[in-house]
Amino acid sequence: MNNSPIGVFDSGIGGLTVLKEIFRVLPSESTIYLGDTARVPYGIRSSETVTRYSFENTRFLTSKGIKLLVVACNTVSSISLEAIRKSVSVPVIGVIEPGAKAAIEATRTKRIGIIGTEGTIKSNSYVNAINALRNNKTEEITEHGEKSMDRYFEIRSGDFVIFTKACPLFVSLAEEGWTANDVALLTAEHYLRGLKKERLDTLILGCTHYPVLKDIISKVMGTEVTLIDSAVETVMTIKDILKRENIERSSAEKPSREFYVTDSPGRFIKVGERFLQQKIEHIKKIEL
Ligand code: DGL
Repeated sequence: MNNSPIGVFDSGIGGLTVLKEIFRVLPSESTIYLGDTARVPYGIRSSETVTRYSFENTRFLTSKGIKLLVVACNTVSSISLEAIRKSVSVPVIGVIEPGAKAAIEATRTKRIGIIGTEGTIKSNSYVNAINALRNNKTEEITEHGEKSMDRYFEIRSGDFVIFTKACPLFVSLAEEGWTANDVALLTAEHYLRGLKKERLDTLILGCTHYPVLKDIISKVMGTEVTLIDSAVETVMTIKDILKRENIERSSAEKPSREFYVTDSPGRFIKVGERFLQQKIEHIKKIEL
């Protein structure tokens, strides 16, 4: 078991931000990454569809004999995590709770923002996780902004005020590698205009792709706002669980790093190597 790989899946390439952290923090672990590139994006799909896709991804990875499953996708972690957990015998780690915990630790003013896909924002998963960790309950939800691009929510929960906003175009910008140009800046300014007025001190990047836009988001929000990268927090949780379950890799051999995709690998390799900042080898296209 100790020398079995860690399985990681995402709707596409975004989860490589989590894989990159695994490579950095746990360099001796073997990994298998599955990107469902034929069916990305998940963020705009119904809960039923996201859950069905997630089960297919999970089945594929467990058939490879993984020792632990990482659900790198925020949308899947928001919608299907508990169902996945019930269906497998290995530990399952999602990205929501680690991000929520880090935001609670970081905030001084208890005014937190959350940005993510439509699916993640609609599910209120981060708000629910913050509430559970603080023993709070949502008391009031106010909608701000007239047009869909300006719309955001203000959620009062106990001593916290949480602002949530879907930023769907950030995924395409990250996929295109448009992370530092004028289009990225304008989009960020437009999406974040409302949240900027709300004097947050902490903002959760609640989507796999957003860490690659960190510089632009920070430029718009101001350096006084702490950005929470769920990928970083999640890998700290993985490290703790490997230790607690006594399943850290013990082999002295070089770890294996396999990749699987559901569409042809060309684009995944091109964009993924930029995300990972290293070569992607051992990649195969599969049917789920
Ligand atoms: N991986 C998704 C997430 O973190 C973003 C891309 C998608 O919509 O599938 O929510």
